Amino acid sequence: MKQVIETHAKIDLTAIQKNFFKAINDDWMLITAGTPQKFNTMTASWGTLGILWNKPIAICFIRPHRYTFQFAEKSPYFSLCFFDERHRQILDYCGSYSGRDTDKVSATGLIPLQLNADCVAFEQAALIFECQKLYTDFIRQENFVVRELIKKIYPAEDFHRFFIGEITNCYIQKS
Ligand SMILES: Cc1cc2nc3c(=O)[nH]c(=O)nc-3n(C[C@H](O)[C@H](O)[C@H](O)COP(=O)(O)O)c2cc1C
Repeated sequence: MKQVIETHAKIDLTAIQKNFFKAINDDWMLITAGTPQKFNTMTASWGTLGILWNKPIAICFIRPHRYTFQFAEKSPYFSLCFFDERHRQILDYCGSYSGRDTDKVSATGLIPLQLNADCVAFEQAALIFECQKLYTDFIRQENFVVRELIKKIYPAEDFHRFFIGEITNCYIQKS
């Protein structure tokens, strides 16, 4: 597996121009967790970027029955990958099929990249965040202030678990 520095350049977070409201909601991202030996990835369109505990952080939200969930639970890291529109089919596939049933890498042509011994991303990604897990918990039914969201988003009571990660490195694809 290639190392990220072969295909991507490390950049400072303050140099990013992207509108993440659009990037997350419309363009989507891949959440990947696990090791170069065994990892899984899935499409996500819910997530948060910001500052917490004086650190740049990303938060992703994963329902418990996703195969990616068990990787995110075990791994000390996860990555978030953002792609250009020409890779939409990859995101469609990774959001429609489970890694339990298919090999998403061979099905999509994704090329895995090693960020560190416990973190994987993909060569096709235009932008990559390497995130070190800091804090995780479930969204809790009893804590909803707007109760209608429970019925609307969680009719099956499969509350997301959220993973708050410090963005330890950011990479953009070399041109
Ligand atoms: C556009 C889009 C956005 C998604 N966003 C999320 C998300 O934020 N959290 C989540 O748990 N599932 C989300 N999903 C569903 C997972 O990507 C999907 O269930 C996937 O097949 C899970 O793969 P896995 O079982 O290999 O982990 C999304 C799916 C799509 C198509």
